[in-house]
Amino acid sequence: MAFRIYNSPLLNPPISSAALHPPQRLPAPNPLPCSNINNSKILGVNSGKRRFVSVRVQTTTEMRAMPEDRMLVFVPPHPLIKHWISVLRNEQTPCPIFKNAMAELGRLLMYEASRDWLPTIGGEIQSPMGVASVEFIDPREPVSIVPILRAGLALAEHASSILPATKTYHLGIVRDEETLQPTVYLNKLPEKFPEGSRVFVVDPMLATGGTVVAALELIKERGIDNKQIKVISAIAAPPALQKLSDKFPGLHVYAGILDPTVNDKGLILPGLGDAGDRSFGT
Ligand code: PRP
Repeated sequence: MAFRIYNSPLLNPPISSAALHPPQRLPAPNPLPCSNINNSKILGVNSGKRRFVSVRVQTTTEMRAMPEDRMLVFVPPHPLIKHWISVLRNEQTPCPIFKNAMAELGRLLMYEASRDWLPTIGGEIQSPMGVASVEFIDPREPVSIVPILRAGLALAEHASSILPATKTYHLGIVRDEETLQPTVYLNKLPEKFPEGSRVFVVDPMLATGGTVVAALELIKERGIDNKQIKVISAIAAPPALQKLSDKFPGLHVYAGILDPTVNDKGLILPGLGDAGDRSFGT
């Protein structure tokens, strides 16, 4: 599949620390009309195969300008997101604070990922001062949350408090420490998702990408299209993003930050260590 390159001086670095670390070096964007989309807000990444695009801000008009068949990686440039990432990175952060930071980060990323995505129903309501036109999230279409155990539980903890209607389907996947190959040990996905479902796949670390790819394949077998899925992640690294981009065009990934590399133990560098162990004190 061909890729379109946005004409910007920020585009086309190879996957490297220069491209991905730290994203904060890029100019802080302000919302701009889509005619200005080439100016400052999209970072193209190319590892020699399929390209994906990292987006640092989103508006409705920008979203309309994005090619439908390309995977997009959103890194919302929000100071609270940077704060919680910093708490998570700190090796001195104790387990309960780490877990809380993960939950807060998840709340913010899900908030960003819900923008322009959730169906609403409109009507009129009587306020104490008069009749007002209102919109509510449509409760007939709950968002499906798929936390990938264990660490995904911490990142998804606030899902049901920020989203008015959710269903949670747990997926337990663990990597072999030697081969880094994923094994599914718990699958609570439905046989078939209802038509038109919206699915958040929640996993703090996208490292080699084996885990998230296994999860997405299981979800897709159950009647879900790439465009119906948003991946929520604390930290994403190039090997995982490249695999996702190759296999799931049109997918949207929301990450707190992008890091440059993964070591031979499958840990993201500089990363935050093992998110599962640090969340649950093991
Ligand atoms: C970690 C992490 C991701 C996965 C990412 O889980 O929480 O799920 O590895 O790695 P990958 O992109 O290389 O597949 P782990 O297997 O350590 O299980 P845990 O969450 O139970 O600790």
